[in-house]
Amino acid sequence: MTPRKIIIDTDPGQDDAVAILLALASPEEIEVMGITVVAGNVPLDLTQTNARKVCELAGKPETLVFAGCDHPLVHRLVTAEHVHGETGLNGPDLPDPDLALQDQHAVDYIIDTLRHEAPGTVTLCPLGPLTNIALALRKAPDIAERIQEIVLMGGAYFEVGNITPAAEFNIYVDPEAAAVVFGCGAPITVMPLDVTHKALVTKPRNDAFRAIGTPVGMAVAEMTDFFERFDKEKYGSEGAPLHDPCVTAYLIRPELFSGRFINVEIETGSALTRGMTVADWWGVTDRPKNANFMGDIDADGFFSLLEERLARL
Ligand code: BDR
Ligand code: CA
Repeated sequence: MTPRKIIIDTDPGQDDAVAILLALASPEEIEVMGITVVAGNVPLDLTQTNARKVCELAGKPETLVFAGCDHPLVHRLVTAEHVHGETGLNGPDLPDPDLALQDQHAVDYIIDTLRHEAPGTVTLCPLGPLTNIALALRKAPDIAERIQEIVLMGGAYFEVGNITPAAEFNIYVDPEAAAVVFGCGAPITVMPLDVTHKALVTKPRNDAFRAIGTPVGMAVAEMTDFFERFDKEKYGSEGAPLHDPCVTAYLIRPELFSGRFINVEIETGSALTRGMTVADWWGVTDRPKNANFMGDIDADGFFSLLEERLARL
């Protein structure tokens, strides 16, 4: 099987980190061409440092990492230190990276790569606010039809919101960017909170990461330990949702997920519901279908995959 070429666009984030580790551990299915970084969970200077730390943790210092936008298209940046800690990657104590940032801007790297590779052979995997992807599409509208697929973590329908009562964090931070992406015409698969809130790191699952016994296993256990204190308190659930790895797991084992091909629009106007993903799950409009919106996950299968792959690093 030829591995699928992907660009991961990310704002690490502990769950972003696990998503990246899973991709880097799966070369049979995934070729990580580059990692583009955006401001989101914490400001850009921290997210780009965290991305480089994670590549070194994975033992892949040759990974290309590009810094992108440091603020959303229209609104001021909203961050989530209350979830991820002041570094964005609180939990493990990871060394400052030697891996250098690439000189090119992330947006230009995305454009150049899509123009250079054969049409329909590069998948974009956004794990944070959609600013870099939207800016690339605005600057170079010709790239839209060259994208194989956009597989992203963001939005919600039945679970509604986590940063406001109506909106999920990644979409809320840059709804104008999300509107550009959902309207671009490329095939889109969405991992919303409806899926990720079922991917809970329970105590036995956290113990299993630790039991891998490697620096990666320990670091992932420490990351999810940290992440969990907030979510347990907030949701009263038995563990923290591991949002972003659902994206990279989907590329490896799509059969772990199920959903519907529906219309999804982004609310950008209303102060009350800004960033809401208005998902026509029941097909009550004739608006054009634009997204493969996931609703369910085989959580045990997902965690088995994670344990198996993380143990390789
Ligand atoms: C999303 O927001 C971030 O805090 C996580 O990294 C994830 O991408 C979940 O709403
Ligand atoms: Ca993220």
